[in-house]
Amino acid sequence: MSKPRILLTRRLHNFAIKELKKRYDVYVHSGTIPMPKGKLLSKISQADGLVCFPYDMIDREVIENAKKLKVISTYSVGYDHIDLQKAKSHKIKIGYTPDVLTNATADLAVALLLDSMRRITEGDRMIRNGNWKVVFGAHDYVGMDIEGKTIGIFGIGRIGRAVAKRIIPFGMKITYHSRNRLSRKEEKELNAKYVSLDDLFKKSDVVTIHVPYTKDTHEIVNMHLLKKMKKTSHLINTSRGKIINEKDLIKALKSNLIAGAALDVFEKEPIGKNHEFVKMKNVVLAPHIGSSTSETRKKMAEITIKNLIYGLEGKKMIYSVNTD
Ligand code: DGY
Repeated sequence: MSKPRILLTRRLHNFAIKELKKRYDVYVHSGTIPMPKGKLLSKISQADGLVCFPYDMIDREVIENAKKLKVISTYSVGYDHIDLQKAKSHKIKIGYTPDVLTNATADLAVALLLDSMRRITEGDRMIRNGNWKVVFGAHDYVGMDIEGKTIGIFGIGRIGRAVAKRIIPFGMKITYHSRNRLSRKEEKELNAKYVSLDDLFKKSDVVTIHVPYTKDTHEIVNMHLLKKMKKTSHLINTSRGKIINEKDLIKALKSNLIAGAALDVFEKEPIGKNHEFVKMKNVVLAPHIGSSTSETRKKMAEITIKNLIYGLEGKKMIYSVNTD
């Protein structure tokens, strides 16, 4: 009997490929990233299992072409790139990698918060460009105290909670808004106060986004909310770019409606050097590195292949979108 066929839209760690090759006939795409649609459509038609990444659009057309596909295993916590309804209608199981990347992503959100509020990379750029002319003036390169300020955590799932835990020692007032309110006990543990979405944006000195991207959160952060923010406030996004209306954010930053933004994710990735954000002094940019530590990426690879193998063997996946 021929081995099941597995398609990887990109290379993973060697140990992962080795494990897969013991069991399956494995095809790993190399070259243009993301894998071009035409090639994806052709390769998926023969595949029993797929390993994909957050930028691969596993849409209706791809799934309709996937006549033998039983499992999609995404190397990410986000699964907004997969047409869940369509996959479900084809009885395709979907695995993903939550939990293992919570700490790394929360660390990055806090790093971006500190960077934006204390203008660290802005200073770094200034020095590299030879523009550090004056030293230590009363008003030079001033940022904002962290202690005593209010953080607004938008989305209090795994990552939002991990951000709250990290922020407690900084002495910030912690507020949050989420679809589901925490229990009294959890609110007490995190010292977090539930507020309306409007109040989150109105009263926070920094808002950090930790909601998943869905049709309900598509561009939910737009001029309506940005206008409510304090002129001294900052916006941090390590979730998905399309949660923010980028045109509105650019307008808000240019017209000093808010003080700064630190962004790890964008509407279209990667962004080029001519993007408006690149030209703006009060924006910190990161190349979608929320989960990008060697330890975390290795754990993600382990779970990705286990999800795939278990799914194909009819066992319970480590993390399944269908059942979580
Ligand atoms: C994910 O896994 O969805 C994250 O965006 C990675 O940083």
